[in-house]
Amino acid sequence: MTIELDQNELWLLSFYRTSEIGGALFFGRLARTLQPGANQRDMSRHFADEAQHAWLWTSCIERLGAHPLSLTDAYQDQYVAAAGLPVNLMEVLALTQVFEGRVINQYARHQRAPGLHPFVGETLERIVDDERWHLEWVRRALREMEPAYGKERIDETVRRFREADEAVYRQTVHEHEQRIAHLTDVLARTRGEEPGHGR
Ligand SMILES: [Fe+2]
Ligand SMILES: [Fe+2]
Repeated sequence: MTIELDQNELWLLSFYRTSEIGGALFFGRLARTLQPGANQRDMSRHFADEAQHAWLWTSCIERLGAHPLSLTDAYQDQYVAAAGLPVNLMEVLALTQVFEGRVINQYARHQRAPGLHPFVGETLERIVDDERWHLEWVRRALREMEPAYGKERIDETVRRFREADEAVYRQTVHEHEQRIAHLTDVLARTRGEEPGHGR
């Protein structure tokens, strides 16, 4: 089989796969601890989606004639370092809302990249649909927590994680500039876009 990916594309798709695995493990652990109810149900589906996404990237890379690179540090690991560990479910969901917004924006940018391989395009399309639902249920869950925590405190928490996200993202783009060069004109055009804005 011929390899249809260059090293930078292979790195980026492998990075997505690692990040989806990180999400699946994180939400899976959390789903196990939740009490019966809507959040338990949605968190379980969320966990299953992220696991499926990890497989979709694995399979996509394989169809392109390669094997995923084994990358150790997932993007979300750096969040905790930047913003501190979430201390309750509200904070976990606030962080998740910010992170899911980032994921959707990144995937949407990739969808607009020039010369997108059809296998990558198909995979992105399938995943982005699920990611939109992730953002929806988390927003719903946070709204329902307003009587318990107060809207202001929730908004403030989202803001804190958004600031951490922006710092981590800038650092990631800076560190991997060469590897994502094929996306940089897309990045330049969409710079300043709010994570998850309008979705
Ligand atoms: Fe995902
Ligand atoms: Fe997601």
